[in-house]
Amino acid sequence: MKRVEASVVSIRELMPGCYQMCVMASEIANAAHPGQFLMVRCGDKLTLRRPISIHKVTESGEVCLLFTDAGLVRENSISSNRERMSVSGKGEGTLWLSQRKRGDKLDLLGPLGNGFWLDSSSRNLLLVAGGIGIAPLVFLAEKAVSQGKFVKLLLGARIKEGLYHSEFLPAGIDVELVTEDGRAGRKGMVSEYVVEHVDWADQVYACGPKAMYESIAREMMEKHAKKPVQLSLEVRMGCGMGACYGCSIPTKQGMKRVCLDGPVFNLDEVFLEEVRL
Ligand code: FES
Repeated sequence: MKRVEASVVSIRELMPGCYQMCVMASEIANAAHPGQFLMVRCGDKLTLRRPISIHKVTESGEVCLLFTDAGLVRENSISSNRERMSVSGKGEGTLWLSQRKRGDKLDLLGPLGNGFWLDSSSRNLLLVAGGIGIAPLVFLAEKAVSQGKFVKLLLGARIKEGLYHSEFLPAGIDVELVTEDGRAGRKGMVSEYVVEHVDWADQVYACGPKAMYESIAREMMEKHAKKPVQLSLEVRMGCGMGACYGCSIPTKQGMKRVCLDGPVFNLDEVFLEEVRL
């Protein structure tokens, strides 16, 4: 884990209210693994850093983050009543972040957390993204493709405008769109379509709102699909480094700290009903 003062290289609004910011931080880029996150200081007024998933890294040493500002999340999310952000904390920090300009400095800690695990013998990977949950999965897809694996992405959002644009996805992956209103791709919840592909997949990865995880668990149980699903939990964090225990969640192996033992867990090891996302 490094503490880095990084310069903003670019920031752009990929979808309304959803920003991709890239910063020059080669020490972090070289060490980062898909599913890990950064703790970002968001101005002088906020004492706590904000955890933000690493969205992608570049060979030139840039680290890119994907986040939403305060207003749009509810429109973007497939969950109507629960914000889904690549940031834990509600808006103020990410609003500040969205107002940064090229050349501004950011104080970063990372990479942190365990990240997704990729089995070297796996060939077919199924990725399931709900809303802004696409954030860490793009990095995972890029790494998987670079290793010659086949990637199928189920990309869901509540409405068409909340869908991550396909042109920003790595080449060579198979993408299936799902929206709740059916205006783009298939209609319904992205979780409904997981079981269609689960037999094909060697490994399954999901990132999205709690309702999506609960729905995947239900669908898998009803269809007797027994594939392990790795999911990324984004809970409120204090220190982000295992010191404050503010991110502890109950699991079948006892209490775990999301920042240290996660944020990636197996779906069947977490007591989802007791986790506040
Ligand atoms: Fe402090 Fe996880 S945020 S222990």
